[in-house]
This record gives sequence, C-alpha cells and structure tokens, in this order.
Amino acid sequence: MKILTTIADMRAAIKPARESRERIVFVPTMGALHAGHLSLVERAKTEGSCIVMSIFVNPLQFGPSEDLSRYPRPVEDDERLAEEAGVDLLFRPSVEEMYSSARTISVTSGKLGSEWEGKSRPGHFDGVLTVVAKLFNIVQPDAAIFGQKDLQQAALVSAMVRDLDMPIDIVIAPIVREVDGLALSSRNRYLSPEQRKAALALNRALNRVREKFAEGETRVAALENAGVSVVAPEPQVGLDYLAVIDSKTFERPTVAQKGNSIIIAARVGTTRLIDNMTL
Ligand code: PAF
Repeated sequence: MKILTTIADMRAAIKPARESRERIVFVPTMGALHAGHLSLVERAKTEGSCIVMSIFVNPLQFGPSEDLSRYPRPVEDDERLAEEAGVDLLFRPSVEEMYSSARTISVTSGKLGSEWEGKSRPGHFDGVLTVVAKLFNIVQPDAAIFGQKDLQQAALVSAMVRDLDMPIDIVIAPIVREVDGLALSSRNRYLSPEQRKAALALNRALNRVREKFAEGETRVAALENAGVSVVAPEPQVGLDYLAVIDSKTFERPTVAQKGNSIIIAARVGTTRLIDNMTL
C-alpha cells in the first residue's frame, strides 16, 4: 500500500491505474477505522481493482461545539488496518494541503442538507459535500462507497453527483452492527460501559418500529410514537429525532410503506449517535 499526503503525489500515484483502465474505487473516511469501514473496502473490492482510501478529519463538517479536536486519530492502527484490508493507495492529507487560505468556494447542500442531521448540525453537510467533491476531483474514481449508517450523507452525495454531473457510481453498503445490535461508529469509543448499554435503546427503538409495521401499523405518527416510547425511559439517552421518512427525499409521509426508512439521532452523554433501518 502506498501512502500519499499531497494532492500532487496522489494524482501521480493513481495515473498508472487510470492509464491501464483499471476500475478505481474510492472509500472516503475520517479514519479511526473499524469493521464498518473494512466492510466498505470489501465492497470496494467487488466493484473494481484499484482501491483508494482517504483518511481526513475534515474540519469543515464539525460545528464549533463539536468533537473536532478530540476526534480519534489512531494513525498507525489505521494504516495497518487499511493495508491488511487490501487498500492500494491511502490518501492522508493535512488540513493545509486540503484547504488553502485563499479558499472561497464551497458546495451547498440545499434543502435536504438543512433537515434532520442538517438541522441539528448546521453547515455539517455543506462541509461534507465540499470535501467529498474535492476528494472526487483529486482521486477521480469510477465508483465510491458510502455506508448506509450515514443515510442522509449518502443521499446528499448521490444528489451531488447527479446535479453536478460527476461521472461516479455511488454504492451504498449496509450498516455493520455489533452482535447486540449497536451500529459501528468511530464515536462508540467515547462511550463508557453504562453509556454503551444505554445506547442499545436506539437499535431497540428502530426494531420496535419495524415490528409495529410488520404487525400492520402504517400510520407514521403511531410508528414513531412506538419508537420514542422505547427510548424515553432511558435517562442517559437524549433523543434528538426519530422519524419515518421517504428514503430518497427524507420527507415524512403520513402513511408508511415498505422501503421507507426509520432514522434516529440521540445524545448519549456527550456523544451524538445516529442509526437507521429500512421498513
Ligand atoms: O462519513 C465520513 O466519514 C465523512 O463524512 C466523509 C464522507 C469521509 C467526509 O469527510
């Protein structure tokens, strides 16, 4: 595995693969790699032969009171895991390399970017789309893999490549969970053992909504109430939202149908967690 830290070196390293018409598949990450990220690399290997991963903790997508400075950066572990997983090129730029002081242009995420996660984290999705657009321009992959765990991010990246005519296939890979159902996240490492136990309420709430739907309940308000009633008794879990939405537009229907998503976000201690499931 080659590790590149400058844009020029990254572009030079990818050139031979592009010239020999290999299918280039890109896995963008912020590092602190876990089995969820490694499943994205596994998926990437089924999509193409030259696998590029980026590790960049993107300051643009963190709000002023968020965890940018304490976000985990286990550089050596990440490099080892990426290499073992079969990454060919690892792009690990510095903030200065990615953002010149002359920078004035950014991508705006529109209406979808200001709802749900975007409402709770103003500017977050503009930051995500700006860095993803830059990374796409640097790597110029044929396909890119995103995790379903960040469902709204995946929907926005898909909308960006559609609206800005980027010739990149966006592949959404399923959520990886611990055996007890907790969705894998780099932020899970902030949780104390008690908080981790409390965090399982998110998964339980999603399953409760799914069960209710399987029993025949289709009224969205009733489904959401069923989920909220699972989280409410957990004193350590501060629910931000739980909603049944259309998986593409993120709008709330009044009557749920198969293929809709249940999205949930909550704070456990100071850690913000998100999860989702398809009905
Ligand atoms: O999902 C992430 O890890 C980040 O939001 C991404 C896509 C790498 C952009 O910084």
